[in-house]
Amino acid sequence: MALFSSQEYLSSAVRLPSPAKTNDCSVFTALGHRRTIRDISPAKLPPQIISNLLWAAFGVNRPENKFGVSGRTAASASNSQEIDLYVAQKDGIYLYDAGKNLLQPVVSGDLRSAALTPGQHSIDAEAPLTIIFVADTHRLTATRGYKDAGLEDPEVQKAYCYVDTGLIAGNVYLYAAAEGLAAWFHNCDKDRLAKALGLRSTQRVLFAQSVGYPDGA
Ligand SMILES: Cc1cc2nc3c(=O)[nH]c(=O)nc-3n(C[C@H](O)[C@H](O)[C@H](O)COP(=O)(O)O)c2cc1C
Repeated sequence: MALFSSQEYLSSAVRLPSPAKTNDCSVFTALGHRRTIRDISPAKLPPQIISNLLWAAFGVNRPENKFGVSGRTAASASNSQEIDLYVAQKDGIYLYDAGKNLLQPVVSGDLRSAALTPGQHSIDAEAPLTIIFVADTHRLTATRGYKDAGLEDPEVQKAYCYVDTGLIAGNVYLYAAAEGLAAWFHNCDKDRLAKALGLRSTQRVLFAQSVGYPDGA
């Protein structure tokens, strides 16, 4: 396991294909299929599906507003967009850059076990992709959106970060249901991940969500 140097970090970014419609499932039908599926095949997801999944989760869906901030597929407190999606795959963990539609490598090595709920190892989870939700509270106080007084209060900050994570996770569940994929929102080894990712003092690992093909499908 090694953090990438800044040179490697910039040179080895994985460009994702543009998000594109792959099926015509209605929101209503997707809601009918929405559920947690924990038995996930280790088979890799194609780049187009990864791109669509991350775009559905928290991609850019409209141009910059009058404050110079692009709109996203999930709401966030004061539009601070304080949740980053780190993506754990077999070869390492990447940071989703929604604006550039790419995955920036952060740390090499298979850390997917750290992205599982500690103590829940009876489940043989080898999902090809696990999203790790990381909040940066600095972005709440530094938002260019409407600033409400609560943004400075640590308790309110915590609530906003969890709510904003839940909104993204809901999008992931819905996209997975529409695409016939398995999705599973779960806890994770926050300390191990925070160390591995070299997080700043304002960043916190909150939850994780695994996605892949349903096992045996
Ligand atoms: C905040 C939260 C934490 C969760 N943590 C775990 C977890 O650590 N392990 C797990 O197997 N499932 C976890 N889940 C998934 C729930 O157990 C699951 O959503 C619930 O049983 C309802 O099932 P459904 O999603 O199929 O409707 C979590 C869900 C939420 C919303």
